[in-house]
Amino acid sequence: MCGIFGYLNYLVKRDRRFIADILINGLHRLEYRGYDSSGIAFDGDDVEGSDTKQSLKSRRACVVVRQKGKVEELEHVVRSLENIDWDAEFTVHVGIAHTRWATHGEPNAVNSHPQRSDEQNQFVCVHNGIITNYKDIKQYLTNKGYKFESETDTEVVVKLVKYLYDKHKNENISFQKLIEMACSQLEGAFALLFKSTHFPGELCATRRGSPMVIGVKCADQLATSHIPVMFSKDLSNPRFTKDLRGVFSPPLMITDQSASELAVTGNDRSIEYYFASDASAIIEHTNQVIFMEDDDLAVVKNGALTIHRTQHGEVTGQSAIREIHELKIELQQIMKGNYKYFMQKEIYEQPESVVNTMRGRVNFSAKKVVLGGIKDYINEIRRCRRLILIACGTSYHSAVATRQLLEELSELPVMVELASDFLDRNTPVFRDDVCIFVSQSGETADTILALRYCKQRGALIVGFTNTVGSSISRESHCGVHINAGPEIGVASTKAYTSQFLALVLFGLVLSEDSISKEPRRKAIIDGLQQLADLIKKVLECDKKIREYAEALYKESSLLVMGRGFNFATCLEGALKLKELTYMHSEGILAGELKHGPLAMVDHLMPIVMIVMDDPVKTKCMNAYSQVQARGGQPIIICNEDDEELIKLTSRHIAIPRTVDCLQGILCVVPMQLLSFHIAVLRGYDVDCPRNLAKSVTTA
Ligand code: F6R
Repeated sequence: MCGIFGYLNYLVKRDRRFIADILINGLHRLEYRGYDSSGIAFDGDDVEGSDTKQSLKSRRACVVVRQKGKVEELEHVVRSLENIDWDAEFTVHVGIAHTRWATHGEPNAVNSHPQRSDEQNQFVCVHNGIITNYKDIKQYLTNKGYKFESETDTEVVVKLVKYLYDKHKNENISFQKLIEMACSQLEGAFALLFKSTHFPGELCATRRGSPMVIGVKCADQLATSHIPVMFSKDLSNPRFTKDLRGVFSPPLMITDQSASELAVTGNDRSIEYYFASDASAIIEHTNQVIFMEDDDLAVVKNGALTIHRTQHGEVTGQSAIREIHELKIELQQIMKGNYKYFMQKEIYEQPESVVNTMRGRVNFSAKKVVLGGIKDYINEIRRCRRLILIACGTSYHSAVATRQLLEELSELPVMVELASDFLDRNTPVFRDDVCIFVSQSGETADTILALRYCKQRGALIVGFTNTVGSSISRESHCGVHINAGPEIGVASTKAYTSQFLALVLFGLVLSEDSISKEPRRKAIIDGLQQLADLIKKVLECDKKIREYAEALYKESSLLVMGRGFNFATCLEGALKLKELTYMHSEGILAGELKHGPLAMVDHLMPIVMIVMDDPVKTKCMNAYSQVQARGGQPIIICNEDDEELIKLTSRHIAIPRTVDCLQGILCVVPMQLLSFHIAVLRGYDVDCPRNLAKSVTTA
C-alpha cells in the first residue's frame, strides 16, 4: 500500500539538496508499496539563518511538491523547482515524504500526500491507511468554513489539526498535544507523520493499525553511547533497556529542559531520525530501529525522541519503553543486483532463501527439526481441537499447499481460511483452537483483524511471517520467522516457497513423537536437504520457459490444472499470471474438470497441466486425456525421469523429482518464471503490477 518516509536532522549540518535526496531516495525504496503518485515537504527559504537557534525559529516556510506517477517523475519536478537555494544549510530540519496508492480520490497531484492544512502549508501530513469517519469530520470543518482541495481522507486530518491549533494557540499548545487531540477524533486504521511551520524542528508520528518504524542514527560513537533514545512518559518507572550499542543500560531520561539546552549549546548530541512505514527505507542509513506500537505517539523535539502511549488520543501515562532492534537485513539484500527486476532476483534467490528458512532448524544427520519460536507451545499445539490456517493471497496458497501434510503428520483437523471470508462468516473459534496466521509482510489488514478476532476468543495465536517486528509477529503468542529475506517485488515468489517450507517444518515438529511417522519424516528431511540444488536445476529450465512464454504472451487466457499436493501450485501459478500479465487465468482442480471447467477447453484454449509422478498421477492422466479429447494441447510440468509421460507430450517442462509433499516447491518455480516472462514480453513492469500493492494494510 502507500509508503511513508520522514527524515529529521538535529545538530547535523545538511544542505537542502542532501535532505531532498534522502527523502526521494526513501521514496524509491518504498515505491513498491504503492506507486500511483508521490510527494515531499521540506523547509523553504523565507528567512535566512544558519545557527541552531535561528534554524529552529526562523525557517518557517514549507515547500510541498506532489506529482502523479512514479517517484522519478516527482524527482524531476523537485529538481526543476525555481528559486530554491539547494545549497542552503540546515542544522535542524524536518522533511516528510510519501508514495501513494489511491484509496480516496483518483491518483493526481492534489490528492497526493503530503496533504496540507492551507496554502501556507502550516501543517502538512503523510498518511497510510483509512480514516473511516472522515466524512463526519469534513462536514464539521466545512461548517466552520474550511475549504477542501482534495478528495482524500488525509486532508481532513491535517485541517483538523489546523482547526485545533487556531482554537488553542493562545494557550501555548504543544505540537504533541495538538496531534493527540486530533487523533482522538479519528476512527479507522492509520500511520501518520506531521510537520508544521509553527513547530520547526519538531516531528510527530503516530500509528493505529498501520506500521511505522523509527530509525535512529547518532553521528558519532560518543553520542551513540550517551543517547538511549527511549524515554518513558512515566519517569518514575525507569526500566533497563538497550542503548544504541546494544549494551544494557538504564535509560537516560532526557527532559525537554535538558534537550533544549542541548539545542542551544549543541555539540556532540547530533542525531538523525528516519521514520518509515517499512524498514527497507531505513536500512541504508541505520540498522537501529524502534517499531512503534498501535496508539504510540512519537515526538521529536529539540533532538529528543519521546514516545507516549495514547488510547485513541488520550495519553494513558503507561510506560512507553520501546526496545531498539538491530535490523539484520543488508542494503544489498534489497537492491536488484545483476537482475533487471526485483521479482526476477527473488525467483533466482530461492535456492538460498529456502536454506535460510531451514538454517539452524534442521539437523539433517540427526533427522531432527527444532523451531525455537514455538518450542514452548508445542505440547499445547499437539493437544488442540484443530489447526486453523488463516491468510490472504499467496500466503493462503502456502497454507493450501501444506494442509494435506499437516493433516497427515499432526492427525489433527486442519482448516485453511481466507482471512476476509473467515471474518465475514463470524467463524466460531474456541479456546482450544490453534490459529496460524501466515503473512509475508505481517501487516495485511484482513489477516491482522482475523488474528485479533481469534485472540479475543482465547485461541493460541501462531504467526508465520517474513517481517521481524511486524504487527502479526508482535501480536502472536509464538511464531516462526520464515527468513526468506526482504521481498520487494509485489508478486510474492520466494516468500511463498519459504512459507510453504516453514509450514512443512512445523508439521515435522508436530509429528516428532510419533514412531509410526518416523520413515515419512526421514524421507521428508532427506528431501529438504536436496531442495536448494533441485530448485537450481528447475531454474535451468528458464530458457525453455521463456520460449513457451513467447508462444503464449499474446493469448488472453491461460488455465492451470492439477490436483493433490499441486492444486495449490495451480492456484498460485494462476494468481501470478493474473497479477503480472493481466490475462485471465484460473487454477483448476483437475478433479473438478468435468463439473464445469471442461466446457472452456478447446483447441484454442492455452493450458498448463501439472502431472507429477505421485499418488494422484493416474487421476491427472485421466484429466489430461479428457483435455486432449477436446483438442486441448497442454504444456505439461512433469518429472524429468517420467519418460512414459514425456514421450506422450511434445510440450513439457521437466523438473527434478522430490518427495511428493515438497514437489510443489519445485513446481511453482516454472509458473513464476512463465508469468514473469509473459509480463515482460507484454511490456509490463513486473515489480509494480497495476492496481496492486505489496502490503495491503487496509481491510
Ligand atoms: C501475490 C501476493 C499477495 C499477498 C497477499 C498477502 O503475489 O503477494 O496475494 O500474498 O496480499 O500478503 P501477506 O503475505 O503480506 O499477508
